[in-house]
Amino acid sequence: MILAVLFVFLASTLNHRIDAAECHGKPDGNAQPNSNPIYSQAPRLVKTIGNGKHYTVGNEQDSFDIIHVWGSPYMMGRAHGLLMGEKAKNMVDAVWEYMENQIIDPINKTVHLQEWFLKDVADFGLDAALDLELLATKRHTGSYFFEEAMGLSDAAGIDYQKILRIHMIGELTKGSCSMIGAWGSSLKTPNSLLQLRALDWAVDGPFKDFPQVTVYHPTNSSNGHAFANFGWTGWIGSITGMNSRQMAISEIGVSFPDETFGKESRFGVPFTFLLRDILQFDNTLDDSIKRISDASRTCDLILGVGDGKDRRFRGIQYSASVANFYTDSDLKPEATWHPKINDTVYYGMDWLCPGYSQVLARQLQTYHGQLTPELVATHVVPIVQTGNLLVAVYDLTKNMALLSNARASYESGPANAYDRQYVQLNMTELFNERPPNTIVF
Ligand SMILES: *[C@@H]1O[C@H](CO)[C@@H](O)[C@H](O)[C@H]1NC(C)=O
Ligand SMILES: *[C@@H]1O[C@H](CO)[C@@H](O)[C@H](O)[C@H]1NC(C)=O
Ligand SMILES: *[C@@H]1O[C@H](CO)[C@@H](O)[C@H](O)[C@H]1NC(C)=O
Ligand SMILES: *[C@@H]1O[C@H](CO)[C@@H](O)[C@H](O)[C@H]1NC(C)=O
Repeated sequence: MILAVLFVFLASTLNHRIDAAECHGKPDGNAQPNSNPIYSQAPRLVKTIGNGKHYTVGNEQDSFDIIHVWGSPYMMGRAHGLLMGEKAKNMVDAVWEYMENQIIDPINKTVHLQEWFLKDVADFGLDAALDLELLATKRHTGSYFFEEAMGLSDAAGIDYQKILRIHMIGELTKGSCSMIGAWGSSLKTPNSLLQLRALDWAVDGPFKDFPQVTVYHPTNSSNGHAFANFGWTGWIGSITGMNSRQMAISEIGVSFPDETFGKESRFGVPFTFLLRDILQFDNTLDDSIKRISDASRTCDLILGVGDGKDRRFRGIQYSASVANFYTDSDLKPEATWHPKINDTVYYGMDWLCPGYSQVLARQLQTYHGQLTPELVATHVVPIVQTGNLLVAVYDLTKNMALLSNARASYESGPANAYDRQYVQLNMTELFNERPPNTIVF
């Protein structure tokens, strides 16, 4: 049986390609700026344990958790599980249930699962299909990931395999997101680097109920340096975040590629782990360029990596076949709806996506020379209507971040993150958080 499954699995190919199609959506022409004041008060301490601390930050209707974890990968996962316990378990269960519903009820399907995955599910069931995916990516996954998942599992009483399985969801779906890297003449403060990560994905799903910033403080340098994951409770892959080397990551799922992308593959490193490796281990943009060039890449994406130390940003065309690194002067794709803008790299929602890209370009041109993280949050993102689930804007020179999350089921106000209140985070302070004096290595 296992052999037969493996055979079918290995024989499946991924040449499926929608040629020359473009995305159809565009923002509402009446979209309004985000007029909420930015929340800038300090996080409030909730709890301290042996290897971790729990804070909350933000107003009642726009708050999220911040946890700090110290130690080995296992001990950091354990601290996460001890601090967040039931909430982490609920998150993992909710994502699992969400994935099941997406498959059982295609009419209500709101995330687009990869065709080959749906076929695996039809043939073998959801558990086995996810286990095949884990098998296809295991060799490319850092051992720290499995150790951390074990610590989380032990401390929060969550099935270990279930934690691994839900982490495959990023690889199986395509969000349509946006990014900006801006520096020099585009900014109000020219000697700085600004980066946007807008996540458009599954606002109907469970993620919006579990916003969390997880600040990792590895105690052995073989496990990298301090970094912060902006994501969700119980989630240990990276969708965005910043590290203590003034670097940040952005990502867009590409559903409308052109022929320059070549092939996709299902064998390789899940992108949420690759992005995490960048945050955790890379010291410079060049480290990340090498990592991405050398990686066993999988699906079609656009990645963004910024380095505030020398104010450089690259937008990366990413697939199994190619890794191309673009800056402002050689930005691709070349199209009238994607004009080159000095000292700016940008992508709106997809690779071939005129409707969103031209509104993003227009906002960036309008505010060229005046851009600040606040202006991106108030006058760019809400007009482009991008970042329904999460928006992060980084000032990689000042070590500041703005973070907004979608309306949780227990909150009121506008549904989308881009219309809600931002919380300002002083990343220098987060990375310098004093460890509890009870820490175990
Ligand atoms: C599908 O969506 C409809 C309308 O929102 C809802 O009534 C129904 O319960 C959903 N089905 C499932 C299985 O979630
Ligand atoms: C750090 O990790 C390395 C590699 O796992 C190990 O050899 C070393 O003993 C560790 N150092 C400390 C201080 O634990
Ligand atoms: C872009 O920058 C170049 C060199 O700094 C300058 O010559 C050019 O006029 C700028 N273009 C625009 C549209 O600002
Ligand atoms: C962030 O916190 C550090 C340490 O407290 C402080 O020196 C710095 O000025 C703060 N940054 C901003 C932009 O407020």
